[in-house]
Amino acid sequence: MILPRIFFFLQFPTLLYLFTVSFASTEESTALLKWKATFHNQNNSLLASWTLSTDACRDWYEIICFNGRINRLNITNVGVTGTLYDFSFSSLPFLEYVDLIMNQLFGTIPPELGKLTNLVHINLSVNQISGTIPPQTGSLTKLETLDIFHNHLNGSILVEVGKMKSLEVLTLGNNNLSGPIPTTLSDLTRLKILQLYSNQLSGPISSELGNLKNNQLSGSIPITLGDLTELNSLYLYSNQLSGPILSELGNLKNLTDLELSHNQLSGSIPITLGDLTELKILYLYSNQLFGPIPSNLTELNILYLHLNNLSGPIPSELGNLKNLTDLEVSDNQLSDSIPITLGDLTMLKSLYLYSNQLSGPIPSELGNMKNLTDFELSHNQLSGSIPITLGDLTELKILYLHSN
Ligand SMILES: *[C@@H]1O[C@H](CO)[C@@H](O)[C@H](O)[C@H]1NC(C)=O
Ligand SMILES: *[C@@H]1O[C@H](CO)[C@@H](O)[C@H](O)[C@H]1NC(C)=O
Ligand SMILES: *[C@@H]1O[C@H](CO)[C@@H](O)[C@H](O)[C@H]1NC(C)=O
Ligand SMILES: *[C@@H]1O[C@H](CO)[C@@H](O)[C@H](O)[C@H]1NC(C)=O
Ligand SMILES: *[C@@H]1O[C@H](CO)[C@@H](O)[C@H](O)[C@H]1NC(C)=O
Ligand SMILES: *[C@@H]1O[C@H](CO)[C@@H](O)[C@H](O)[C@H]1NC(C)=O
Ligand SMILES: *[C@@H]1O[C@H](CO)[C@@H](O)[C@H](O)[C@H]1NC(C)=O
Ligand SMILES: *[C@@H]1O[C@H](CO)[C@@H](O)[C@H](O)[C@H]1NC(C)=O
Ligand SMILES: *[C@@H]1O[C@H](CO)[C@@H](O)[C@H](O)[C@H]1NC(C)=O
Ligand SMILES: *[C@@H]1O[C@H](CO)[C@@H](O)[C@H](O)[C@H]1NC(C)=O
Repeated sequence: MILPRIFFFLQFPTLLYLFTVSFASTEESTALLKWKATFHNQNNSLLASWTLSTDACRDWYEIICFNGRINRLNITNVGVTGTLYDFSFSSLPFLEYVDLIMNQLFGTIPPELGKLTNLVHINLSVNQISGTIPPQTGSLTKLETLDIFHNHLNGSILVEVGKMKSLEVLTLGNNNLSGPIPTTLSDLTRLKILQLYSNQLSGPISSELGNLKNNQLSGSIPITLGDLTELNSLYLYSNQLSGPILSELGNLKNLTDLELSHNQLSGSIPITLGDLTELKILYLYSNQLFGPIPSNLTELNILYLHLNNLSGPIPSELGNLKNLTDLEVSDNQLSDSIPITLGDLTMLKSLYLYSNQLSGPIPSELGNMKNLTDFELSHNQLSGSIPITLGDLTELKILYLHSN
């Protein structure tokens, strides 16, 4: 007699739960089926589980529910061809995580995306989406991740992007965006990753991007200037940015990766970059920078300054960057002799000093760089004999000393 009673107790809540689940997600599943019906390829086997007769929460691939409401939609790399125009954003108010990565989505981002006010994460990367990010997304104040890299976004980055106050990741790299970087991005104080590489962005890098809490303490700087002190990677390479590298970038104390290569930046490298004590990667190559290489850079693993117009000596202090694995300062106007301290860089794998105006002997200490595989000193004015210690570089694959 006890057994059926237990059975009853287990059964009833379960049935009730299933009933609730199906009931609650009907509008949501209908909305998704409507969207699916607009796909240009209807034979997608992964989405075959999306049918009217099945429970979206239980039976549909790519869907995860929370309390019977669709919470996650994850359609990654399944060859969906279509647009977002018939995606009923207002019917899916509980969506928090959306991954539509690596499909063939085209058309623009509908302004209705701004209605998904619970959204925490959306990744539309590697599709063919065009147009700009609609201003309505400014209402997505819970959004932490906005990934739209490798699409065909065009037009400018609208100031409203600065309203998504929770953003930690903003990746718009490899699109066709143009115009300046809006200064409102400096309002995104939680930003950790900002990737805008390979676009047609132009104008100077706004000084607001580098503002610091310290400055606000003085009370004289308007709070709207914000700060990006949480930022750990800033990718602005392959754009048409011009003007100097502002010394304020030295305020972004958490930066580990700063990539500004392939632009038209001019002026000298600010010594304040020496304040970036977490920096591991510094790419400033292929710009129009001139003046000296700062002598107080710290902690770096990779330093690429080639294809600029830098002058003066190679600072002997670079020998303090004990973790440096790659140093490329070729194609500049660097002069004087090669500092013997470079021999302290025992982790170094590649050392490119070619096409400068370096003179004097090759220091025999360079034979200490036991990990070196690529060593190029060609097209300088080096003189003297080749030190016998270079024979200790047993890993060496490339050694170019010609045109000296
Ligand atoms: C799906 O249909 C398209 C044409 O609509 C066709 O090119 C493609 O080969 C089909 N794929 C499969 C897996 O049947
Ligand atoms: C989507 O699925 C992939 C694996 O297919 C996983 O790595 C990713 O974290 C998922 N995204 C979400 C938002 O659940
Ligand atoms: C978004 O998807 C791309 C492509 O798979 C991936 O590289 C990136 O890490 C994803 N973003 C997040 C925040 O997971
Ligand atoms: C950018 O726009 C140009 C001109 O409209 C076009 O030729 C190019 O294919 C676009 N690139 C991308 C990545 O969309
Ligand atoms: C964006 O590209 C579309 C076509 O790809 C074009 O019609 C539109 O004018 C472009 N917008 C801007 C602002 O360049
Ligand atoms: C920098 O990162 C550390 C931990 O990685 C974090 O505790 C700190 O709040 C971040 N921001 C600043 C301004 O240092
Ligand atoms: C580099 O020089 C700047 C400007 O003098 C200074 O603020 C910074 O503390 C120096 N950094 C180091 C690591 O010495
Ligand atoms: C080298 O890296 C190690 C481990 O990441 C770190 O503890 C050390 O401080 C670094 N030294 C320099 C000179 O960058
Ligand atoms: C590099 O600097 C030299 C002199 O310092 C100048 O004559 C030359 O025009 C500069 N080149 C570029 C590409 O800026
Ligand atoms: C070569 O590099 C490895 C790490 O890749 C490091 O452990 C080793 O100490 C380096 N060799 C020398 C001679 O410093």
